[in-house]
Amino acid sequence: MNTTLIQYPAKIWYKLANYCLKSYQGLTQEPRVFLMRKLARFEIVRDWVAMLFNRSTKPREISRAKASVLGNLDVNAIAATIETDSCYQGLQLPQDVVQELLTFANSTVGYINRDLNRPWPCKGTEKVGVDLPENTRVCSYMSNIEKSSTVKKLEKDPGILAIAAKFLGAEAVHMGSEISWSFPVAGNVVQQREAAQVFHYDLDDYRFIKIFFYLTDVDMSSGPHAYIRGTHNGKKLKHQFMGTRCASINDEKILEYYGVQNVVDVCGKAGFGFVENPLCFHKGTEPTAKPRLMLQIEYAINDYGNIHEMLGY
Ligand SMILES: [Fe+2]
Repeated sequence: MNTTLIQYPAKIWYKLANYCLKSYQGLTQEPRVFLMRKLARFEIVRDWVAMLFNRSTKPREISRAKASVLGNLDVNAIAATIETDSCYQGLQLPQDVVQELLTFANSTVGYINRDLNRPWPCKGTEKVGVDLPENTRVCSYMSNIEKSSTVKKLEKDPGILAIAAKFLGAEAVHMGSEISWSFPVAGNVVQQREAAQVFHYDLDDYRFIKIFFYLTDVDMSSGPHAYIRGTHNGKKLKHQFMGTRCASINDEKILEYYGVQNVVDVCGKAGFGFVENPLCFHKGTEPTAKPRLMLQIEYAINDYGNIHEMLGY
């Protein structure tokens, strides 16, 4: 008898049961987050919510008394670039701030592959398979980041808040921050997916934004962040329905539809920063030779608490 014919429906039933169970848990435990994750994937819903928030077109001034650590910023131009290109590149952290963050990373316990049961004092100089366990792809400082006063200051920096508020069209609600290492280690597609190293888009709110800063020099061999320009809008309907499950589609298929010529690899020295609408297709490229240390700060229009903890990633 052909066993695959029997196994195939069982697999479908298992997936369906799992989907129903997760949906039930989401709906009963975190209904607001659950509904947002279901609805925000559709551009028409996001446009409608943005209208409700009555997006401000008035530039938000950064007063001299509250100068940004990033220097002079043309907030309107930055927001306009993100609106068309999905990303703005060109922020710069002062070197003393980079140094403070490196000191923090060198003296704080991180967690291998974001697993709280695997604490590790990552310094970025370790070799995977020699000083670090074989399957170490990422080492994140997780909630230990709260011990960094430098990160706290950046989260409240008037320039960063002004960019976020201008883009969001609403007061920026801080959603979370992360400092993490990405190590050069070859992985299969499942491991790459778990480490956000395949093209995907995030669904953290109806409107949200991420600000990234490289804390080590990043070139093509150290896992540059990559995005597909303009894909925060105009997604194929199937990709809107799939939402975050788009991460299961091969990168080749995504590029076939959105165009390889629209891929932008973001390289820069330590301190270089960029701002992204994470609804565009993006990924952290798998490093091939050198590790990458990066800080990201996220803001949204709604306060859901720690959404990443709730959703288990
Ligand atoms: Fe992402």
